[in-house]
Amino acid sequence: MKLPHFFEEDHRLVDAELERLLPADNERPSLIHQAMRYSVFAGGKRVRPILCIEAFRIFSRERAAVLPVACALEFIHTYSLIHDDLPALDNDDLRRGRPTCHKKFGEAMAILAGDALLTLAFEALAGAPVNPAERVDLIQEVASAAGTRDGMVGGQVADLEAAGKEVKPEMLEYIHRSKTAALIRASIVSGAIAGGASREDQDRLRTFGGLIGWAFQVTDDILDVEESSAALGKTAGKDQAQQKATYPALFGLEKSHEFARELAARAMAALERFGTRAANLRELGEFLVLRRA
Ligand code: IPE
Ligand code: IPE
Ligand code: MG
Ligand code: MG
Ligand code: MG
Repeated sequence: MKLPHFFEEDHRLVDAELERLLPADNERPSLIHQAMRYSVFAGGKRVRPILCIEAFRIFSRERAAVLPVACALEFIHTYSLIHDDLPALDNDDLRRGRPTCHKKFGEAMAILAGDALLTLAFEALAGAPVNPAERVDLIQEVASAAGTRDGMVGGQVADLEAAGKEVKPEMLEYIHRSKTAALIRASIVSGAIAGGASREDQDRLRTFGGLIGWAFQVTDDILDVEESSAALGKTAGKDQAQQKATYPALFGLEKSHEFARELAARAMAALERFGTRAANLRELGEFLVLRRA
């Protein structure tokens, strides 16, 4: 799967802004700043910030305004990974091709690095160069996506509770839409808000984001079965070992592939109104379900 043509440039811009927003390695107390930087710069795909930028670009060409918003999403995502890997959650040793944050820095520092990245995200949002009303909308959008009501933390709770149990399709949908799709949806909607999109256009992108984010987690489940740890940069085959509630576990691989494609097609339909202006988002959407890592 080829990367979309704008991917590398967006990735570079995001990394430069992350660098600007994060405290330096040697700033006191240096250990936590090292831990935060270790996980942020371990080589993630930057899918959420790139979605944010490309949603913004439907409405505005001036990319600098969206970069702090895009980075806020990556900070929250990285915090969620650090905590997801903790022994009390998925208990993983490998992340983004490196030992997990707690393996390298110890559990206490990993917990605190996650907390600090979550807080830094809201500092970045508060400092984004957008008008005050939009800033409040952004904070609301991102906070609720990261929280317990159909948000990331809520989904993580349900994911843990479902392990080893027989799970109904409705619960599996709740888990995936909450733990993963909510933040992906918020990445896209917050890009639109920062770009000055109308409520109607925000809603169209909310639909796109919810569906493509859901497809993204179905694909993550599939890759956990089909790919190697080396390819993924994280431990493969974990879901089955921990009896997680996943699409392949409930429906098999073939149906899961079909379902991811179906969700992606439904997501694309929500972009129709934007015509060619949404070409980059469409390309990204395809990449998210066809990727092999
Ligand atoms: C992994 O997300 C965790 C999920 C929510 C599925 P990514 O696949 O975006 O991980 P990175 O950021 O590239 O490491
Ligand atoms: C994680 O889902 C979703 C998060 C909110 C971090 P997974 O537990 O499947 O993510 P990986 O496979 O460890 O990246
Ligand atoms: Mg997990
Ligand atoms: Mg995990
Ligand atoms: Mg997974």
